[in-house]
Amino acid sequence: MAKQEDQFKKVVSHAKEYGYVFQSSEIYDGLSAVYDYAQNGVELKKNIREYWWKAMVQMNDNIVGLDSAIFMHPTTWKASGHVDAFNDPLIDNKDSKKRYRADVLIEDYVGKLDAKIEKEVAKAAKRFGESFNKEEFLNTNPRVLANKEKGAAILKRMGQSLEKEDLADVKALIEELEIACPLSGSRNWTEVKQFNLMFGTKLGASADSAMDLYLRPETAQGIFVNFLNVQKTGRMKIPFGIAQTGKAFRNEIVARQFIFRMREFEQMEMQFFVRPGTQKEWYEKWKETRLEWHKSLGLGEDNYRFHDHDKLAHYADAAADIEFRFPFGFKELEGIHSRTDFDLKAHEKHSGKKLQYFDPELGESYVPYVVETSIGLDRMFLAVFSNSLMEEELENGTSRTVLKLPSVLAPTKAAIFPLVKKDGLPEVAKKIVNDLKFDFNVIYDEKDAVGKRYRRQDAAGTPFCITVDHDTLTDNSVTIRHRDTMEQKRVAISELKNIISKEVSMSAWLQK
Ligand code: GAP
Repeated sequence: MAKQEDQFKKVVSHAKEYGYVFQSSEIYDGLSAVYDYAQNGVELKKNIREYWWKAMVQMNDNIVGLDSAIFMHPTTWKASGHVDAFNDPLIDNKDSKKRYRADVLIEDYVGKLDAKIEKEVAKAAKRFGESFNKEEFLNTNPRVLANKEKGAAILKRMGQSLEKEDLADVKALIEELEIACPLSGSRNWTEVKQFNLMFGTKLGASADSAMDLYLRPETAQGIFVNFLNVQKTGRMKIPFGIAQTGKAFRNEIVARQFIFRMREFEQMEMQFFVRPGTQKEWYEKWKETRLEWHKSLGLGEDNYRFHDHDKLAHYADAAADIEFRFPFGFKELEGIHSRTDFDLKAHEKHSGKKLQYFDPELGESYVPYVVETSIGLDRMFLAVFSNSLMEEELENGTSRTVLKLPSVLAPTKAAIFPLVKKDGLPEVAKKIVNDLKFDFNVIYDEKDAVGKRYRRQDAAGTPFCITVDHDTLTDNSVTIRHRDTMEQKRVAISELKNIISKEVSMSAWLQK
């Protein structure tokens, strides 16, 4: 656990030191759970967004994009169920006066059981060496099985109690598990209460006529209310999807773990409209498709798992998370939900407008069913960033910090150095920068010794370093060094564009 915490602290400080993520309003001591993306962070975020957008919109001829407003008519949120049901169960510790999400306290308890299982696996892998069969061990070891069973039973009971709004039982579960406040260490808890997560604001200048609004807590509703506009103007035929990325806002109670849970964050959501009765099939298809997208980035296949929900949201008939192994354990990265016709029907009812599709093959109109894929861009950023940060021992006994970002997502694709700041080398290096910058984000760096410049770029995540030396002046060749292998090659300047392009091009990665 301490090792995980150390690793996570390194992630947070590296993100600041290398211009990825800053605390918002830092000069005023920051604003809790609100962050700013700095010069490198904004590029990484943009690249993740683009990688998602291309995979969703550009690669699918039946999915189109949308950019709906953050402000929506307030009845939207009544119809969607957010006014009445977008709540978190809260519990206060009477001694520390600290407020917690009751479900998170219980999930953290189960997370500790998972950590115990991982420890058993690591111990056994060490003991049995080559002959270790992880799958078999997980399915037969009595201690592992007992912890797995215990965790599953706890989550099931919690899910059922939340579903039934039986908050007294959620508190009873916390007491039975003897969960203590991490701050005070006491088990002196209040009752569990529900708390609505939407931020309210007002539209209009005068107090009497101002209209109460909410900052949207998800981008999905902007898609639902535009469903028929897009279908008609785009002449879309079912099945089809509408995708959008944009800000969402939630007054999160447990806002910790850096950019994992923020109050202002960005979502990348796609609603796929299907014929009623076919939703299960599409749900399974989108589960697989989204997992493949994640795997294409090469962050390690073992770092993902599905978690099928016991407790379904008010709108879903099936739901699963794609969980990722963050530095603090497996946690939700993306949700795939079969949302039935709940949202469109609710908007029909509250607006009095028909939101139906005429299916020419069936010769009838119906309210489509919806399968949704919803991923947090900031959470994806954290997954990519934390997984890429490593400390490597080198053959010469030294070590290096390297950010092995998937090169397709790296903020800067190449750094170009003159070996020395004289003899015309800076001019040649700057010319290379000026040629390459039409195709890639590249930078020029002449400060410090070349070895130090390499280390700086390794830590910033730049896949290539290109060094101009005295030979360049006569043979037009440069040394290109690869971040991950540290291999250096002599290549012609004219080849650079091709070499970089081969490694960082989005189309090549998407075709993987
Ligand atoms: N439209 C469905 C929806 O919003 P959700 O599970 O509440 O579903 C979807 O959110 C995704 O948005 C999550 O899987 C997560 O990646 C991201 N997300 C949710 N709340 C977040 C928060 N407070 N901070 C950062 N990301 C968040």
